[in-house]
Amino acid sequence: MKLITAIIRPGQLAKVKEALFRAGVRGITISRVSGHGGQGGIVEQYRGSQFVVEFHEKVQLTIAVSESFVAPTIEAIVGAARTGEVGDGKIFVQPLEQVVRIRTGERDTEALTPVGA
Ligand SMILES: Nc1ncnc2c1ncn2[C@@H]1O[C@H](COP(=O)(O)OP(=O)(O)OP(=O)(O)O)[C@@H](O)[C@H]1O
Ligand SMILES: [Mg+2]
Repeated sequence: MKLITAIIRPGQLAKVKEALFRAGVRGITISRVSGHGGQGGIVEQYRGSQFVVEFHEKVQLTIAVSESFVAPTIEAIVGAARTGEVGDGKIFVQPLEQVVRIRTGERDTEALTPVGA
């Protein structure tokens, strides 16, 4: 199992959600975040030193998937989130040790399978 964290442009969210749904991804958490990548944030000078005053608004998707869903999930996000301009975002993939569905007590891949599937 993997935990996929994707940072995307807010304007691409609808397209990405649709692509993920088509790829069979159901469970997803969405948060509004701010950050900066290689280009830095919006930088100002104060008494000779530079500091970041503003970050770029992004959307973070957190998706827990079983192994067979890792590649399709990444492909769906990349395909729908890319504009080709700097700031399109990033995807981080981490090993996921345990998942528990609280209602049933199911564990791991069973807990990731959509109910009724
Ligand atoms: N190394 C990182 N660690 C944590 N978050 C990051 C990292 N790189 C980027 N992010 C997050 O992803 C968002 C988008 O990053 P961005 O697409 O600008 O990455 P980049 O590496 O600068 O690529 P590009 O050159 O295409 O802009 C950032 O605003 C930040 O929230
Ligand atoms: Mg950047």
